Amino acid sequence: MTGLIVRDLHAWYEKSHVLQGVDVQVQRGQTVAILGRNGAGKTTTLRSIMGLVHAQGTITFDGNPLSELATHEIARRGLALVPENRAVFTTLDVQENLSIAFRKGSPWTPDAAAELFPSLKRRWKSAAGRLSGGEQQMLAIARALMTNPSLLLLDEPTEGLAPVIVDELVQLMLSLKARGLTILLVEQSIQVCRAVADTHAILDEGRVVWTGTTASLSSSGEVLAKHLTLENA
Ligand SMILES: Nc1ncnc2c1ncn2[C@@H]1O[C@H](COP(=O)(O)OP(=O)(O)OP(=O)(O)O)[C@@H](O)[C@H]1O
Ligand SMILES: [Mg+2]
Repeated sequence: MTGLIVRDLHAWYEKSHVLQGVDVQVQRGQTVAILGRNGAGKTTTLRSIMGLVHAQGTITFDGNPLSELATHEIARRGLALVPENRAVFTTLDVQENLSIAFRKGSPWTPDAAAELFPSLKRRWKSAAGRLSGGEQQMLAIARALMTNPSLLLLDEPTEGLAPVIVDELVQLMLSLKARGLTILLVEQSIQVCRAVADTHAILDEGRVVWTGTTASLSSSGEVLAKHLTLENA
C-alpha cells in the first residue's frame, strides 16, 4: 500500500504511557480522521509521526521507514504538520509568512495559495497576529503547503471557529483532497469528519478502539457515546 502506515505506536511523557499501541493507516489520496476526547492522545500521535515526540513502533510512508528520522528529514519526505496552536509568525504579514516557508521547486507558491485562499488574499499585507482565528488557521495550512507536502497532518483545524468558517475549511480540505493530497485529520467535530474523511479512527486512552467508513460511523451511535464527549457525538 502506498501512503502512511503506523503500527503499534507507543509514546511516553516521563513515566506516563500515553500512546499504547496506536495503529493507523492512510492510503495515498485518502483522508482519514482521528477522533477522540481531550487527552486521548491525538496530538501525540501526530507529533510522533513527525518525529517531535520520542516514540516506539513502526511508521512507514510509501514503504520507507520514518521512525528513526529527524523531523526535518521526515518533512523532506513529504509530511507536513499544521499544529494545534497554528504557529504563524505574528509580526510578519501573510505574504511574508508564506514566502519564508516556500520551498524552491514547490508548485505551491504564495501566489498559488492566494488563489486557493481568497480570505488570505484580502489580508495579504496584514500582520498574521492581526488575523482572525479562522484566517490564522488558513495561513497555517497555506504555510504547510509551501513545502509541497504529499501528506498533510492537521491538528483540530476547526477548533473554536464559527460555523461559517468551519464550512470554509471543510471546502478547503475537500479541494486539497481533490488535488491529490493525502490528509490525516484530527478533529473533535463529527460533522467535519463525516464531510471530509473516507475512514475514521476513534482514539481512546492511547489506543484506536474503532475504525470504519463514514456510513458505519453514522450507524455507530453507541461507539460514539462511549468514546467521545456527548457534545461532539
Ligand atoms: N508535554 C507533555 N508532558 C506531559 N504530559 C503530556 C504532554 N502533552 C500531553 N500530555 C498528556 O498526554 C495525554 C495525551 O495528550 P494529547 O495532547 O496527545 O491529547 P489530545 O487527544 O490531543 O487532546 P486534546 O483534544 O486536548 O488536544 C494527555 O493525558 C496529556 O495530559
Ligand atoms: Mg490535541
